[in-house]
Amino acid sequence: MIKYFNIIQALCRSMMATPNDAVVHQINRLKDSLAKDGNEKEAKTLEAILSAAQSAVEMSPSKLQQSFVIAGGEELTKKTQVPVDRETSTPLAEVFFPADLPDEMPLFDDNIRLAIQSIVNEWKVYDRLLEINASPASSCLIFGLPGTGKTHLAKWIAKQLGLPVVLARLEGLMSSFLGTTSRNIGSLFAFANRYRCLLLLDEFDAIAKLRNDSQEVGEVKRVVNTLLQSLDSRHEKGFTIGVTNHESLLDPAIWRRFDIQIEIPKPATEVLMSLLKQFLQPLNFGESEIKFLAWCLEGGTGADAETLAKWVKRAYVIEEKANIVWVMKQFALLNSGRVAAIKRNVMVHSDDDLIEMLLKDKSYSFKQKDVASLFGMNPSTLSKLLSKLNDSSKI
Ligand SMILES: Nc1ncnc2c1ncn2[C@@H]1O[C@H](COP(=O)(O)OP(=O)(O)OP(=O)(O)O)[C@@H](O)[C@H]1O
Ligand SMILES: [Mg+2]
Repeated sequence: MIKYFNIIQALCRSMMATPNDAVVHQINRLKDSLAKDGNEKEAKTLEAILSAAQSAVEMSPSKLQQSFVIAGGEELTKKTQVPVDRETSTPLAEVFFPADLPDEMPLFDDNIRLAIQSIVNEWKVYDRLLEINASPASSCLIFGLPGTGKTHLAKWIAKQLGLPVVLARLEGLMSSFLGTTSRNIGSLFAFANRYRCLLLLDEFDAIAKLRNDSQEVGEVKRVVNTLLQSLDSRHEKGFTIGVTNHESLLDPAIWRRFDIQIEIPKPATEVLMSLLKQFLQPLNFGESEIKFLAWCLEGGTGADAETLAKWVKRAYVIEEKANIVWVMKQFALLNSGRVAAIKRNVMVHSDDDLIEMLLKDKSYSFKQKDVASLFGMNPSTLSKLLSKLNDSSKI
């Protein structure tokens, strides 16, 4: 070991922190001389110092800073402490790790599905888009009626990106103590910005309800401002998804903070049928039975389809030979909010009227033989019934 080589090494390292051509040239000279005199180990050490500094220079400062944006941040683990409300000690967020997130995208029609897929594709290459100044989006507001799969969708997006979700319900950040709500918002964003994660602000409209509460006007303004500033500060630190049922309640200034806005509609008949099939698994039903359930649930959401499927499954476990029409009638009676009143009344009062209503609904085009089998009738009995109904309507 050459005397004072430790000091020489430290000198070279500190000079290479802000390198210039002369410094690089002199260190190269020293390295070559050491190698020539047989001091291979020392020559290699200097070579390592030169190449480490060189690769840092190649990464321009903006690139270093940018790739920190989305991929950077500390890693969240199960042991990471989530911030809490100081007054009540309740956690301000819940963390979901990729293993706990859904693998399947909720079922939507093709247009929505493709639009969502394009956001995920963009977010997957976020850093590369940033490098070429393509101003990629980093925030998205998902809105639509309750039970349409919005929260499920946000979690699935995070799963696609391999990121944990920091889920905060805005309601949970609100406090009746002056100043606490703003502090909670601040702590939540500081936490999300520190770690690699997707921040999910669920039930975002809660912020709008503040105005109707008896809160002092100045305080409400302060809270909204804190939220606006926090959203701004988050912009280049990670992905943010806001979810709301009442988009019309949102302040336009908040609305504008989201780069992308997606409306999730109620499922169309085809989608509702696929949802029912999916939720009814492992039970398998025929196409006409599924269509009948979708007809009864018309205007319902994915969450309604899930509830109905559970109901049907329970009925089939309790009574193996349960008939789908009978099960649906029970459901309609005990879930009056989930079945349109006009259909519910007919279902409950008269099979004949129900059969007529089904066959007359052109948008579903039920076949007579399918309706007969739904009601456990022979097709000829159904034909007779229909002619009787026709005759009586002529009177
Ligand atoms: N389109 C869909 N595809 C698959 N599952 C769905 C769909 N819509 C709703 N669901 C299911 O319904 C349930 C409720 O969904 P979710 O919580 O995501 O709805 P939401 O829109 O966030 O409702 P809310 O506004 O009430 O919070 C979940 O179990 C979800 O998987
Ligand atoms: Mg939700």
